[in-house]
Amino acid sequence: IIAETIQQLRAALRERREARLEQRIGFVPTMGFLHEGHASLMRRAKEECGYAVLSIFVNPMQFGPNEDFDRYPRDAERDIRIAEQNGIDVVFMPSVAEMYPKKPVTKILISGVTERLCGASRPGHFDGVGLVVSKLFNLVQPDRAYFGMKDAQQVAVIARMTEDLNIPVEIVPCETVREADGLALSSRNVYLSEEERGQAVILSRTLALAKEWVKSPGMTNRALSDKIKESIGQAALADIDYAEVLTYPDLEPLNDEAELSAYDGEILVALAVKFGRTRLIDNRLMELH
Ligand code: PAJ
Repeated sequence: IIAETIQQLRAALRERREARLEQRIGFVPTMGFLHEGHASLMRRAKEECGYAVLSIFVNPMQFGPNEDFDRYPRDAERDIRIAEQNGIDVVFMPSVAEMYPKKPVTKILISGVTERLCGASRPGHFDGVGLVVSKLFNLVQPDRAYFGMKDAQQVAVIARMTEDLNIPVEIVPCETVREADGLALSSRNVYLSEEERGQAVILSRTLALAKEWVKSPGMTNRALSDKIKESIGQAALADIDYAEVLTYPDLEPLNDEAELSAYDGEILVALAVKFGRTRLIDNRLMELH
């Protein structure tokens, strides 16, 4: 079922409820231009819940004034085909006017976990994400919602928002899907020139090295961050937006001089690197012990 309006979406979900199916609803929110990363979320939603809803909506509220909202890649026909092949029962693809008939006066302001990384370099981004995801959760009323760890900060933000607001949805983090050479799949990879695409592998390669570096005796946060930046700097076209080491899921900074071995649990190494006009992100969670 393709639902372009809220009314059509509600009708489809009502019909399903009336059929008294014992299934749960698994939900995958996306901005479309689907790739295998999205598809892995769809298959998991269908498998675990029995009924899977996909949304495709390029949400203007989460783009800054100088970002790529207008040129964000779109291909509805291809997306619908991929949705069908991956077990999706309902595709919700509303227009901007359908989602925002009035300029919203209600704000979702998420603090703390948004202070660093993309929250710092894209002001207001996560408020836009929080607002649209809240609206989508209210519209779809899923039992579970699937998010990719490629956007680790987004997972942390949505998990906290859902917890704070007691939204009855289970947030399911899913593993990042990568190209053969390690590059994380992203709708934005199509922006890369051949030369940039070749160098973009530096993100995943550096994260793999960092996984080894964290284990070196006496390694401090500062030394690790320096090594990471130096490694990325080897790609001539790479322009670092951020390269940070934080606690997860609270996303708090580590003391620069403290040895990493002093921390319990997991740390997140998160990168945002520009190649020309294209900003790529990647990250990796690392066990310290
Ligand atoms: P979008 O970038 O389209 O991503 C939709 C979902 O797919 C997100 O949960 C994202 O983390 C996941 N995803 C993207 N690339 C992935 C990869 N290589 N492996 C695994 N999962 C991947 O994230 C958004 O859209 C928006 O912010 C949204 C949540 C839809 C709100 O507008």
